Amino acid sequence: EKMIAVVPAAGVGSRMAADRPKQYLHIAGKTILEHTVARLLAHPSIDQVIVAISEQDPYFPQLPLANDPRVVRVNGGAERADSVFAGLAAIDDPNTWVLVHDAARPCLQLSDVDALIAGALASPYGAILAAPVRDTMKRGNGAGEIASTVDRSDLWHALTPQMFRAGTLTHALQQALEEGAVITDEASAMEHGQMAPQLVKGRADNLKVTQPEDLALAEFYLNKMMR
Ligand code: C5P
Repeated sequence: EKMIAVVPAAGVGSRMAADRPKQYLHIAGKTILEHTVARLLAHPSIDQVIVAISEQDPYFPQLPLANDPRVVRVNGGAERADSVFAGLAAIDDPNTWVLVHDAARPCLQLSDVDALIAGALASPYGAILAAPVRDTMKRGNGAGEIASTVDRSDLWHALTPQMFRAGTLTHALQQALEEGAVITDEASAMEHGQMAPQLVKGRADNLKVTQPEDLALAEFYLNKMMR
């Protein structure tokens, strides 16, 4: 069964404080976005990647990706959820399985995509890659002091890709956006609609490049993967 990936790549990357959005920084020979899209297209079940790009973005048209017939560009929106929503709108068949994956996660391993697909196919509401938290978790009191320690025994980092039927996710996102829910990933929209996606344990090295120090780490993992 063929699946489509949707890659939100319309963020500005303010926390990176670079001269361009982080997905266009070069590591291990090419831009982060090129690594990310190449990882997805390397999977035998994925034959199309829809990328949500900011309308005035001057960088995307310069990449060879822009001319790849397997890559479809749509205009991103103000928030990540709007960008994902725009990507989903380019999918005709609501039964299509869609894998939403952050542009800023170039270190995705195909074995994790396999595990995610298996988890989603076995679940009524899709699945996400997630990693168990490692550190002791504290809740603050808003004044820089500890209010409490949070039980970490079933606490997870939500990673991407996150995989759903296109129609189900579109409907969930639409409802969540209309109702003003806080949506930081696709699963949050599903949860808002009382649908519980499956947690699939993924690799901790599938990091989201966010801050300057993440670049060296991502480059290290990418070089290791390409050897
Ligand atoms: O900012 P953050 O790292 O959470 O962004 C996650 C992903 O969402 C990035 O790939 C970013 O480009 C994308 N994004 C987007 N549209 C926005 C904001 C973020 O596509 N308006």
